[in-house]
Amino acid sequence: MKVSFYTALLASTAIAAPAAHWGQDSRSGDRGMQHRWDGSSYADFNRQWHHGRDSQRGSCDLRNAVMPAAPTPLPPPAAGRVLSHVAIGRGNQNYTCDLSNSTAVPVAAGAVATLFNVSCLAADMPELLARMCPIALDLPVPSSDDTNSPIYQGMSGHHYFTDNTTPFFDLDTGAHAYGRGAFKKGDSTPAPESAVRGPYGEGNGSVAWLRLDAKTTSGQAFQEVYRLNTAGGQPPKTCQGMPETFSVPYAAEYWLFQ
Ligand SMILES: *[C@@H]1O[C@H](CO)[C@@H](O)[C@H](O)[C@H]1NC(C)=O
Ligand SMILES: *[C@@H]1O[C@H](CO)[C@@H](O)[C@H](O)[C@H]1NC(C)=O
Ligand SMILES: *[C@@H]1O[C@H](CO)[C@@H](O)[C@H](O)[C@H]1NC(C)=O
Ligand SMILES: *[C@@H]1O[C@H](CO)[C@@H](O)[C@H](O)[C@H]1NC(C)=O
Repeated sequence: MKVSFYTALLASTAIAAPAAHWGQDSRSGDRGMQHRWDGSSYADFNRQWHHGRDSQRGSCDLRNAVMPAAPTPLPPPAAGRVLSHVAIGRGNQNYTCDLSNSTAVPVAAGAVATLFNVSCLAADMPELLARMCPIALDLPVPSSDDTNSPIYQGMSGHHYFTDNTTPFFDLDTGAHAYGRGAFKKGDSTPAPESAVRGPYGEGNGSVAWLRLDAKTTSGQAFQEVYRLNTAGGQPPKTCQGMPETFSVPYAAEYWLFQ
């Protein structure tokens, strides 16, 4: 079952192609793929993959999951931290431009993303997970308010900012309570050169990989969050021709530690 699903996936989608293929030389091919994958399928994918296992009850073994490393790696989690959840975040990075300043550069102004549970994939199929952010970036953000729908069931929760410097992760939904947490920026390292530049391979690049630290060590489930395998999200280098506020679509893996 496991092998056949993976084989079918490889055979039926451009996921089998090298990452560089995405959007760079076959726009129509990618659009064709979009029809084969409805908007929910990458969100649903992790669940389907583990169909037949005890995944709905939450029994993936995250102990052996290994985070991807950037060319200049981020520091490892503090001693004693335990990997609790892995999600793909799909949303927008927001920026502001000072229009009164002709040499201004875009300034980061938070982000909003929906998070999808890929914990089991991180545990069992890391090489497949590594290809999913560019796919997620090319597809609309899956959305459903129906708590019984596969999209809602596969949704980990939401990522947003409570103020300009406080990224927040809320993984409590109507379907589960995985935890929450407010963070501050820790370490940052550039995404690899090979990271996709944006949807269909076009854009200003992929946002940095990050390690975020909890604002407080008590009273919240999550203590560290890594943002890895980013796809898109970078603004243009200058504010020339840009409006006062704008959003750049992105996807990223979020690895949450307790
Ligand atoms: C969703 O995440 C939880 C950890 O928060 C994990 O135990 C569970 O197995 C995951 N489910 C899937 C289908 O990945
Ligand atoms: C204009 O933007 C540049 C680049 O961010 C900055 O160095 C400079 O201080 C800004 N000038 C004013 C008047 O804000
Ligand atoms: C970011 O922009 C989106 C629109 O794309 C908006 O809905 C959201 O509130 C903004 N978030 C922040 C933190 O500014
Ligand atoms: C950079 O971003 C701007 C604004 O989103 C966009 O208009 C421009 O096409 C992007 N540059 C490239 C090389 O895609």
